[in-house]
Amino acid sequence: MSELNELKNRFGDRAGVHFEANADGIVIVDVDNAAAHARIALQGAHLMTWAPRTQQQPVIWLSSAAKVARGKSIRGGVPVCWPWFGPHASEPGFPAHGFARTVAWELVDVQVPTPPSTRLIFTLPTTSIPRAQWPHASALELRLDIGTALVCELVTRNLGDAPMVIGDALHTYFAVGDVRKTEVRGLDGLTYIDKVGAPANRQQTGGVTVAGEVDRIYLGSSAECTIEDPTWQRRIRIAKRGSNTTVVWNPWQEKATKMGDLGAEGYLGMLCVESANAADDVATIPPRGEHRLWVRYSVETLV
Ligand code: BG6
Repeated sequence: MSELNELKNRFGDRAGVHFEANADGIVIVDVDNAAAHARIALQGAHLMTWAPRTQQQPVIWLSSAAKVARGKSIRGGVPVCWPWFGPHASEPGFPAHGFARTVAWELVDVQVPTPPSTRLIFTLPTTSIPRAQWPHASALELRLDIGTALVCELVTRNLGDAPMVIGDALHTYFAVGDVRKTEVRGLDGLTYIDKVGAPANRQQTGGVTVAGEVDRIYLGSSAECTIEDPTWQRRIRIAKRGSNTTVVWNPWQEKATKMGDLGAEGYLGMLCVESANAADDVATIPPRGEHRLWVRYSVETLV
């Protein structure tokens, strides 16, 4: 039986969940409940869009030129970066942001713990792990609670007998009315690695505004951040646990054009605020231990 039919048989029509496959055979999970609409590609367990019913605009941004194709990362949504963030520390040939976002995951359960939210639980099968890149005994799970708020929890378990070091991130693309008018709060006073031009350490003063390319890793950032969006009169709250760094990224026009999948003027309507463990702030997991990266996204109206 095909993967699509298997999923339909097992979970079809439970908690507003439907399944479809695109031309490349990638299964998409469509969640349509009383609180929100969301779509998740099984490849990468990649949430592509989340739109709570209270909002006229989606909260998670998906590029109009996004390609959902085998082995490629989707431009937008919530890419899962794992087991490293950015370029690999010693192997330039390994994929940026790890391999988890471009390989097949499995949907193992659909639950309704607190109606009308739908919980989806995905795991990364060991057969999806390129052993040359990741020889460690580990297990990875992603839980998504899709409701008025969106909760994502990435759980890494160390199944081995030695400590395991991972970098990870929920590389979330947020939809904003006009990025030039938005401000990210919650990072005031922190040191960041500025990756635009020659890398340099700088200190943040006040809110983060965007008027050109921004690519920054904020260190020692474990508190809540918000995105203030006066254009759409809303504030997006990003609460998190198990994350020591926050990455703020917008490629701006020139890089966006070169990327080819960001859409015309797409860079003006998105901003990545990524809850991460990156640079030197990676996570060390003891033998038989686990690491949980947890985020909760919610929206409120600006008055
Ligand atoms: C950000 C990085 O997290 O992701 C940027 O800080 C990078 O340097 C961006 O350009 C997008 O990465 P990718 O691999 O999805 O194009």
